[in-house]
Formats: sequence, C-alpha cells, structure tokens
Amino acid sequence: MTILESPGGQLMAERVPTVRSYLMCPPEFFTVEYSINPWMDPAAGVDTELAMRQWTRLAETYERLGHHVHRIQPQPGLPDMVFAANSGTVIGGKVLGSRFRAPQRAAEAEHFRRWFLENGYTDVVMPTAINEAEGDFAWTGSLLLAGTGFRTDERAHGEAQEVLGVPVVSLRLIDPSYYHLDTALFVLNEGPGANIAYYPEAFSPGSREVLRRLFPDAVIATAEDAACLGLNGVSDGYHVVLPTEATALAEQLRARGYAPLHVDISELRKSGGGPKCCTMELRG
Ligand code: ARG
Repeated sequence: MTILESPGGQLMAERVPTVRSYLMCPPEFFTVEYSINPWMDPAAGVDTELAMRQWTRLAETYERLGHHVHRIQPQPGLPDMVFAANSGTVIGGKVLGSRFRAPQRAAEAEHFRRWFLENGYTDVVMPTAINEAEGDFAWTGSLLLAGTGFRTDERAHGEAQEVLGVPVVSLRLIDPSYYHLDTALFVLNEGPGANIAYYPEAFSPGSREVLRRLFPDAVIATAEDAACLGLNGVSDGYHVVLPTEATALAEQLRARGYAPLHVDISELRKSGGGPKCCTMELRG
C-alpha cells in the first residue's frame, strides 16, 4: 500500500481495487407479499419492472468496473431470491450454503446449492443451524465478522468457523431495522490494513466495543446513512457502490481515498435490501 498526500495535506493510503466475482439473481419475480423485516409492507406496492432496471444498473456497474457477474435463474414463488447474498458464504472456493429462518425463503437455499454444484464447486456444505450467509457474514480477508440477533443463529458462527476454517467474530445486532449484519456494516478493504464502515447503534454495547478494538479507524456512519441502507455497500477496495441517498457516507469515503458510486435501489429497499444484499461474492 502506497501512502499519498491528499489535497488537504493529510496522508492517506492509495486504494487499490481487485477484480471480484459475484453471483446475482434477476428480480423477475420480485414482490413484497409477506413481511419478515420492518422494511416490508405488503400493502405498499412494488414496481417489479423498476426493480429490474435498478438491478440491471447495479450488475452493469460491476461489469463496467471489470468484475465478473454470474447470474442464477430466478424462480417463481421466491420473491426474495434477488437477495443472493443470503444464500452462500464462499471463501477460498469453499461454500457454506444457507438455511433461512423464514419458511417463505427456505426453498432458495436448494436452488443456490444446485448452482454451486453445476458450476464447478465441489466443496459445498449446507448448514444445520439457521444461517443467512453473507446477510450476516462479512469477510475482512482474515476474519469472518458474524451477525446474530434476528436471523442467523449463534450456532451458525461456530459452524462457519469449522466448515470454512476461518476465525469468526460474533457480533450481536439489536435494532430490528438492521436485522442482518450487512444492513449495518460492510468491509471497505481486505488484507492486513482491513477496514470497515458501520453504524454503531445497530450493535450491542459489547459488540460495539469489539468493533472499536478491531477497527479503531473505521468509518462511522450516521443514522441517515444507515436509514437508506447505506451500509449495504459493496467495495472492491477502491470503488464503493452505495445507495444514492448515502451522501454523508460517500463524503467520508471520498476523504479517505475511495471512489463512491451511487445506484438507485428504491424498489429493492422496500424489501429491506440494497446493493450488497443482491450480491454474493465468489471468493477463490
Ligand atoms: N426481504 C429480505 C429478507 O427480509 C431482504 C433480505 C435482504 N438481504 C440482506 N442481505 N440484507 O430476508
């Protein structure tokens, strides 16, 4: 990592993007017909075509940045399947699948399991504990930050450590609006100088303290950044894809040498999802 001088005279690290592979699911059957988080109001109405346009822009944004986007076939009757991040945690080519808490989403797990097997993944394990995958797991390059409190069972944290062979740090979520870890925290850059952005109020006091110790230099998001699902961002180490409304967060990131890119995810947010929820990373 090179150290650069910013126009303001402070020193900052040069941010280096790395090419990523993502798995995404087009929102062909996207609706809000049940409510399993406070964002979902089945009476509010969803424009599925607009959701598709927003999703397509997101996928094209990744491709324009040089990332690889794989697409899984959406299934009728699974309106939340667009949130691909919830269906697998892939590290070093090993796959830990998912087991959903809500019966409405349960069948998604098997479609993704089959996708992995048909696409060359040989090490695929399905969890025994409730596990909503990258919804509650964030990889820093050396630690797997793991959320619990609303969806993923604490037992799934131990299971992830055993199956993936990586150290897991358990974090407790306390605000139902931030029901998945990826609604309150994301990784900005991996490796030895790994850093994150997060919204402290979404975490229990002990978990806040853990995050302070591990990431003393983290980007701390405002309540407004969190409320537009701004922490559901996707970073490649330099470019950071964020919801349009996350303006204060974008400003902080720019000051630290990242390049924020905004996408409109208004329709997907009606289901409690943003850019990251739509994006499962395939690592290794
Ligand atoms: N409606 C979905 C649910 O409540 C949204 C999931 C969003 N995904 C995420 N990674 N936070 O399960």
